Amino acid sequence: MSLMIVDGLAKAFAGRSLFAGVSLQIAAGEIVCLMGPSGTGKTTLLRCLNGLERADHGTVKMGDVELRAGDGAQAFATAALALRRRVGFVFQGWHLFAHRTVLGNVTEGPVFVRGQPVGEARPRALALLEQMGIAHRASALPHELSGGEQQRAAVARALAMQPELLLVDEPTSALDDDRTESLARLFRGLADGGLAILCVTHDGTFARALSARHLRLPAAGGT
Ligand SMILES: Nc1ncnc2c1ncn2[C@@H]1O[C@H](COP(=O)(O)OP(=O)(O)OP(=O)(O)O)[C@@H](O)[C@H]1O
Ligand SMILES: [Mg+2]
Repeated sequence: MSLMIVDGLAKAFAGRSLFAGVSLQIAAGEIVCLMGPSGTGKTTLLRCLNGLERADHGTVKMGDVELRAGDGAQAFATAALALRRRVGFVFQGWHLFAHRTVLGNVTEGPVFVRGQPVGEARPRALALLEQMGIAHRASALPHELSGGEQQRAAVARALAMQPELLLVDEPTSALDDDRTESLARLFRGLADGGLAILCVTHDGTFARALSARHLRLPAAGGT
C-alpha cells in the first residue's frame, strides 16, 4: 500500500516550466532515488512534496492528508503543516541551526514542535547520534564539524521527528567513498525498519548501493 501518492504535479517559475505531470507512489520501507541534471527542479519537487513550495497543479496525498495545489491559502497551510508532521527533510545544504549544539539541533523539533519533555528528547537524540556515529560530537557547534558529520547531524535531526517518509537532497555531496557506503547502509537499515526514503542524488554508485527504484525527473510536459 502506498504511503504517499503524488498525482500530476507541475511547477513553473516566472513562466518557465520546470516539471509537469509528475506522478509517483512511495510505499513504507521503500527507497526511491530521484535523478536528473542540475537545474531540472529536483529540489523544487522535494519542496513541493512537503508543502514548503506550492506546486501549480497536482496533489500530494498521505493517508487522510491531501495537499492540493489549487486550494486556498488556509486549507493549503493546514494540509502542509499536517504533511510536515509526517515527512522529514534533509536539505541540500543541511541548514543546521548554527548557534545550537549538535544535540540542541536534534532535540529542537521534538521539544519545541512536538512538546516532548527535554528529559525524553535528550536520550532519544543521543541514541540517534550514536546510530549516526557522531555521539562524541553532541556538544559541538555545526561549524566545528566536518561536512560528513554535519550531514549525519542533519539526518539525526530529521529522524528525531519520527517521520514516516524522509526526503533527502543530495546527501553524498560532502562524503568520501567509505562514508557514502556507510550512509547507503544506514538508509537501507532505516528502510528495513519501515521508513520510506525519497533521495535526490547525482551519485550513481550511491543509488546502486541503495538498490532503490530510480526515477528521472521528466522534462516539462512529459510523464
Ligand atoms: N524560488 C524560486 N524562484 C525562482 N526560480 C527558482 C526558485 N527556486 C528554484 N528556482 C529555479 O528553478 C530551477 C530548478 O531549481 P532546483 O533547485 O529545483 O534544481 P535542482 O534540480 O535541484 O538542481 P541541482 O541539481 O543543481 O541541485 C533553477 O533554474 C532555479 O534557479
Ligand atoms: Mg537541488
